Amino acid sequence: MAIKTQKGRDLEEFTARGRGTPSLRVGELIPEPDSLGEPSTIVLLRKDVRNQLRQTQSIVLPDGTEASASQFTEDGNLKNTENSATLAELWEDFVGPEARLEIVLPFLTELFPDKAVSIFESAAGLGIEAAALASAGYKVTANECDSEFLALMNARFTRLEVMGLIESVEATNWRDLDNTSRPGANFGHVMCMGNSIAYEHRDQAIRKIVENLHYVTAPGQKLAIDERNWPMILENYVKKMKGLPMPHQSGAPMYNGTNVVGDPVAYDPKTKLMTFEYRRADIECEMKSKVGRLVMCAFERDQLLVHLREVFGRENVQCFSDFTSLPEKESDRHQYLGDVKPGFLQYVCTKPA
Ligand SMILES: C[S@@+](CC[C@H](N)C(=O)[O-])C[C@H]1O[C@@H](n2cnc3c(N)ncnc32)[C@H](O)[C@@H]1O
Repeated sequence: MAIKTQKGRDLEEFTARGRGTPSLRVGELIPEPDSLGEPSTIVLLRKDVRNQLRQTQSIVLPDGTEASASQFTEDGNLKNTENSATLAELWEDFVGPEARLEIVLPFLTELFPDKAVSIFESAAGLGIEAAALASAGYKVTANECDSEFLALMNARFTRLEVMGLIESVEATNWRDLDNTSRPGANFGHVMCMGNSIAYEHRDQAIRKIVENLHYVTAPGQKLAIDERNWPMILENYVKKMKGLPMPHQSGAPMYNGTNVVGDPVAYDPKTKLMTFEYRRADIECEMKSKVGRLVMCAFERDQLLVHLREVFGRENVQCFSDFTSLPEKESDRHQYLGDVKPGFLQYVCTKPA
């Protein structure tokens, strides 16, 4: 049984008090009637049910651990930090840093021709780009607010002997990168790469982070930000749920590992949140039984771009897909994305001087 109540009431009885959808194990796929072509499954809990659950009971996650009430944020989403130790441990093998850097580093060095301008990597993760840029002679601040990722990032910098080349390491929440918490924009270029912005679950919050990233970008300098090709991921996920053949879903060039795979396991069309699970696919080892989990906002086409254009100015945002420049004309860009089905979309936003 996915959900236990403290008083031992069974799930059916408990959830019957909600409206309709029974059952609620995070990551479990629950058939729903098709409506207007929407995905045929819904997984995350409806807010009213979730609120009840938070007060009275716990949820058993697919790996058998219990998600307690403290694992939900105020607005009812699962926190992404709960299993970040596992996620951080799996991350390097998921990314495959060498293959990623072969593509990403030339893009970044072309984007940032002047090594004297400092770079703030706002969600550095394991510091893969930060280490490479510092080694190439850039003044890099590697920011990572998750303590598990931060610890592994520091260990990685030490292992690669780049710690002395890194300008500084910070653990600032990007929500605090504003005029109140951080008076005076104090960086040059800013990066927010590796689909990090999808950690924000609500459109309003996404807008605030875009404003913050704009704020810390120095006038005349650039923000490099990206997102996964969410409409493609969603389309493939719906196919999978309907038992249809699913085309190979590329995460390249950002995710190149073969030892660790990451797949969508759940989607809620109401909140537009998608749950991904990451696990080892190779050797028998203790890690194999551990599952890294992320709940991310599956952006609609141009949802992020609209915010970037409004904040930076329409003419100051350049669009790329898998590091290739996209057509300027809106309809051509959409056509290209539909035809080529890239894994990632990048945006380069210049803050007017
Ligand atoms: C998907 S990982 C990507 C990490 C890295 N950029 C990469 O591509 O490998 C997203 C990162 O964003 C960080 N992050 C999430 N919310 C954040 C916040 N509020 N402030 C700063 N970083 C955050 C996470 O801790 C995580 O390391």
